[in-house]
Amino acid sequence: MAQRSKWGTNLGFLFAAIGSAIGLGNIWRFPYVAYDNGGGAFLIPYFVALFTAGIPILMLEFALGHHKEASAPMAFKHIDSKWEWLGWWAVCFVLFGISLYYIVIISWCGNYMFFSLTHAWGDDPNTFFFCEFLKVPFNQTLQAPAVESVWDITGFRWPIVAGVVVIWLINWLITYGGIEKGIERAVKIMMPLLFIITAAIIIWALFLPGASKGIKHYVTPDFNKITDLKVWISAYGQIFFSLSLGFGIMIAYSSYLSRNANIFKNSLIVAFSNSFYEVCAGFGVFSILGYMATKQNQEIGEVVSSGIGLAFVAYPKAISLLPFGQLFGFLFFLLLMIAGISSSISIIEAFTAAIMDKFDVPRRPVITTICVLGFLGSLLFATNVGLLWLDIVDHFLNQYGLITVGIVEALVIGWLYRTDKLKAHIVSNLGLSGTHHKVFNYVVLQLWMYCIRFITPVALGIAIVHSLIQEFSESYSGYPISGVIVLGVGWLLITHIIAFELSGLPWKVERTTKSE
Ligand code: ALA
Repeated sequence: MAQRSKWGTNLGFLFAAIGSAIGLGNIWRFPYVAYDNGGGAFLIPYFVALFTAGIPILMLEFALGHHKEASAPMAFKHIDSKWEWLGWWAVCFVLFGISLYYIVIISWCGNYMFFSLTHAWGDDPNTFFFCEFLKVPFNQTLQAPAVESVWDITGFRWPIVAGVVVIWLINWLITYGGIEKGIERAVKIMMPLLFIITAAIIIWALFLPGASKGIKHYVTPDFNKITDLKVWISAYGQIFFSLSLGFGIMIAYSSYLSRNANIFKNSLIVAFSNSFYEVCAGFGVFSILGYMATKQNQEIGEVVSSGIGLAFVAYPKAISLLPFGQLFGFLFFLLLMIAGISSSISIIEAFTAAIMDKFDVPRRPVITTICVLGFLGSLLFATNVGLLWLDIVDHFLNQYGLITVGIVEALVIGWLYRTDKLKAHIVSNLGLSGTHHKVFNYVVLQLWMYCIRFITPVALGIAIVHSLIQEFSESYSGYPISGVIVLGVGWLLITHIIAFELSGLPWKVERTTKSE
């Protein structure tokens, strides 16, 4: 079997893992989710979710990949071959689901980067985005896409297809080079650039007139919301997506670490950098919204909008109002593109590592095949109804795919494999001795074990049951039931079948790990 690739440095690994975590989810999703779920008070469930599920699962994935030196399917196979499918399912629905539309959204950002230069949206960014750019069937009365038109496909949106070609090409170029010469080299340029642009945008935004009005709305706590179960579920969902948990990515990335890497320290650095980034991004976003509200004499509630609406409707409005708006818009959409690409390459790598481990094939043909298939898959979301399709698929893969992987992962590791083995692996590289070692072993890692065995599966279990009850009480967002079944449930089922098929195929090289 070919020698396993390695990161050149621990810093290279950290940049790659933080790059995977920081993505579209941090910049446009977090600020709105926080605002909608109690503003400053949301930080309480958010940090509880970070400590009870985010950090424990991240540490579990890092420790598992590092200990077994394996991608997700191989790592689970080494625990018990019954669970190999779990690793395959994670990397399959993430690559042949999440990455397909994620790259389409990055393509929208690429288009908007250039639209910013001419304010192509004129004075009605809402109509421009939905009716001219996406050409999605539109409900004139509600001023929103018509959800019942999910099957009314009229053709491709060529500017989006063009962007998709470019983004898949960039992904191909980066991942083709391998771990050290491809991904590590790219993130060492992308991540510092991402931090510099983010800092510039936030500082710029904080000094705008009215910024404080927006920030006040962002941080003012609405403690009544804390008792609402939905707020807690949103917090766990945000942490999971944002830290790329359940994607199989962190397992693959840590399998390339040097043998003496410090898993505990790396987990904390990645988790806190990701949260610090998204909380800060919120200040930037709400400063801009405060500025817009002040300029237009409106309330914040009237200018704020969720996810896609925030980036492609609210922000273009702000860009048109801002002095040097063209430059601001260009930088903002460039930032989204960098954040998105550093996440999409990690999705490709998680699947590539799995295929290389199982079939012992060279990287380059695998990468090329994945990128071609991925490009063809992305075309499904590049039609006039792509927005509706991605909305449904995204909902189902996030709510059921990622959360199920998280629960099963915690149960399998916590109860079947016993966390003690991973615990011993984490401790072995800490370089602690005496009392420090004891405190660490008997307090910190003991708490981690309890989270993995009890708290994480229970919390995620409640989230999934709650989502299922919602699903049966009303069709998601009012979409026709055929759309929900074919696109949502269908996507989960088909990727499951592919995962089972792949796990049933024989291994080219049977490999044992040190633990066996
Ligand atoms: N973790 C990535 C994001 O937040 C997928 O967008």
